[in-house]
Amino acid sequence: MSKLNTTTYRNRRPGRFLELAELTSDIESPVVIDIGPGGVIKGFEPLIRPGSPIRFVAKLIESLLRRLPFLPLESFEPFEILQAFEQRNPTMIAVDIHPRIAHNVEKQSDGRIRGLVHNLARGPVATPGDIVICCAVFPNNEGTMQDMAHNIVRSVKPGGYLFLPPHSYTELMENEPVKPVGDRIYQRLPD
Ligand SMILES: C[S@@+](CC[C@H](N)C(=O)[O-])C[C@H]1O[C@@H](n2cnc3c(N)ncnc32)[C@H](O)[C@@H]1O
Repeated sequence: MSKLNTTTYRNRRPGRFLELAELTSDIESPVVIDIGPGGVIKGFEPLIRPGSPIRFVAKLIESLLRRLPFLPLESFEPFEILQAFEQRNPTMIAVDIHPRIAHNVEKQSDGRIRGLVHNLARGPVATPGDIVICCAVFPNNEGTMQDMAHNIVRSVKPGGYLFLPPHSYTELMENEPVKPVGDRIYQRLPD
């Protein structure tokens, strides 16, 4: 199993999920997929977020503690996405390589979000989404950035939308069947 090497904090991309919801407002009851939601040991988020005076020490301590499998995790991104889309009756799926993250999101959401364990370096998500969000997910010991980009795009239904920061994926999108429709937002072209 891959090492739990993840961290995230609240409201990391302010306004971006609402912007995405607005741009895709013509899609009724969308299937929304969050790839790589991230997680952090419960209680650490205020200490590791930008602006915390002890951010770097707290991140180091958190990275050691997160090896203890019984310590509970918290995720934020899928809940911020769910909130942005909640008026539209979304089906929400959180996909992560690490079972602890995927299962925790499902548990934390009381079943409103389905947690799916999947390695994007190996292939696309089996049931593609109308809207796919994939923030700061990089290949580790398997696959290349191009493999990841390819599989991420194929996790989107033709005509569906992809939000893909950071900037490092932008060039790779030139080789994929997508067109840019916003700042790091792409629409998959019809097959
Ligand atoms: C750096 S965190 C980013 C967290 C969050 N998206 C954010 O931007 O704050 C990367 C996340 O992607 C997951 N991940 C890494 N490689 C992956 C892969 N090949 N397939 C699926 N998930 C992966 C990690 O387990 C982690 O949850």
